Amino acid sequence: MNALIQTPAASALERLHRVAEASDRELKETRMAHLASGSAGQAIADLLAEDAADYKGVSHRYAGNFLSVSPAYGRFLYMMARSVRARRIVEFGSSMAVSTIYLASAIRDNGGGKLIGSELEPSKVMRAQFHLGAAGLGDLVEIREGDALETLKDVGGEVDLLLLDGSFSLYLPVLKLVEPWLKPGAPVLAENAFAADFLAYVGDPANGYLSLPLPIDRGRGNVFSVRVA
Ligand SMILES: C[S@@+](CC[C@H](N)C(=O)[O-])C[C@H]1O[C@@H](n2cnc3c(N)ncnc32)[C@H](O)[C@@H]1O
Repeated sequence: MNALIQTPAASALERLHRVAEASDRELKETRMAHLASGSAGQAIADLLAEDAADYKGVSHRYAGNFLSVSPAYGRFLYMMARSVRARRIVEFGSSMAVSTIYLASAIRDNGGGKLIGSELEPSKVMRAQFHLGAAGLGDLVEIREGDALETLKDVGGEVDLLLLDGSFSLYLPVLKLVEPWLKPGAPVLAENAFAADFLAYVGDPANGYLSLPLPIDRGRGNVFSVRVA
């Protein structure tokens, strides 16, 4: 089984990547210009500081943007979820459900289960649910609306894989919420993992993780960790 080929999910992904490209083009150009005007390190520090000061305001400003994973990273998510035979996945930051569709497709192909997503913006939750319906995956996904610091407090059972793709400054607090539920060997995949506290935590084996930067979409801060405790 490979839900990424000739299925409603594959068609939905193809269409959503096209729509995302168009809707986020201006934002990407602004970010590239900001990067080009100074050092990449400073640009990332600016983004982190803005996020830490007001992550809800930052998320609201981008309520109309997809901010989705790339096709390559999406394929990687599907492959990871297949390789650990994930049946229960938690996602911090679902946006319009592009990453959710990759992960839920893997759950379907692994024999079924549940993905618990989270999204702050109500309009995005509605769009995500519509996209999941079009992809034929609505029955596998529960997107919890609101702040993940609240909505992911109780994920109700063991977790085979965790995706962190929400406010940059909350990766460590969200990881700590989900950590008690993580199965040994569970991958923790973090996009835009720039926050120093998160990187230090997963980078220290004493905390029960092994961690490496990923060479997919260089510059986007993709970090791959495994729960080894
Ligand atoms: C980079 S986007 C996620 C993209 C998505 N994973 C995809 O590939 O389509 C980050 C999303 O996280 C949401 N978000 C940010 N902080 C959040 C929080 N504290 N709780 C829930 N959602 C949050 C934002 O509204 C935004 O839609």
